[in-house]
Amino acid sequence: MKTIWVIGGPGCGKGTQCSKIIDKYGLLHISSGDLLRDEVASGSPRGASLQELMSKGLFVPTDIVLSLIKERMEKAKADGSTKSGFLIDGYPRELDQGIQFEKDVCPVDLIIFFDVANETMKSRLLGRAAVSQRADDNEETILKRIEIFNVKNNEIVEHYKDRVVRIGAEGSIDDIFAEACKALEPLFSL
Ligand code: AP5
Repeated sequence: MKTIWVIGGPGCGKGTQCSKIIDKYGLLHISSGDLLRDEVASGSPRGASLQELMSKGLFVPTDIVLSLIKERMEKAKADGSTKSGFLIDGYPRELDQGIQFEKDVCPVDLIIFFDVANETMKSRLLGRAAVSQRADDNEETILKRIEIFNVKNNEIVEHYKDRVVRIGAEGSIDDIFAEACKALEPLFSL
């Protein structure tokens, strides 16, 4: 089973591409943002602390997001819901998260980085904001999310440079997907 991280700024298209990738490769999509929003919606004590941070565009504590991902992976291994592996979307957001994951969970096989300009992230998210129910899809929070991404992401890309595939993600959804498939093929043709 393979473990793949998908990184990139807010609105770069991580979720959009992950939906297409799992259909083709049979991976289980684990979105850190979706897990956290589900936790908030569940009304659990753990979820209650998350809402305020997320609505400001700030990171939640690593131990919370990592344990949610780990629990999801363990459940899938137990119930056999994936044979190919895991596509982990939106993790790591900073280098320490990556190091902690490989220490506590498993090694990562590939990291896909969807790279777009700040203006593209902003315009895509403002487009989504018109129809979104997400508490973090407003201009102030979008700018904060982009700012934090720009501070944290380079260190991840530099540290894992041997396993990172950078994909320019300004183009069409299908063209970007074709590039993602080129990156993934070697993992699944062994
Ligand atoms: P998360 O839910 O992961 O949000 P995000 O990273 O800000 O990314 P989005 O989901 O907004 O965008 P996306 O890149 O998936 O793009 P999408 O495909 O939707 O995280 C939310 C929050 O949770 C964080 O801010 C943080 O608080 C917390 N969190 C999450 N992970 C954490 C972690 N590891 N540690 C700590 N805290 C964490 O596309 C966006 C829009 O663009 C859509 O409308 C789509 O239709 C459109 N679009 C996509 N591709 C294209 C294209 N090629 N051309 C034109 N439009 C496109």
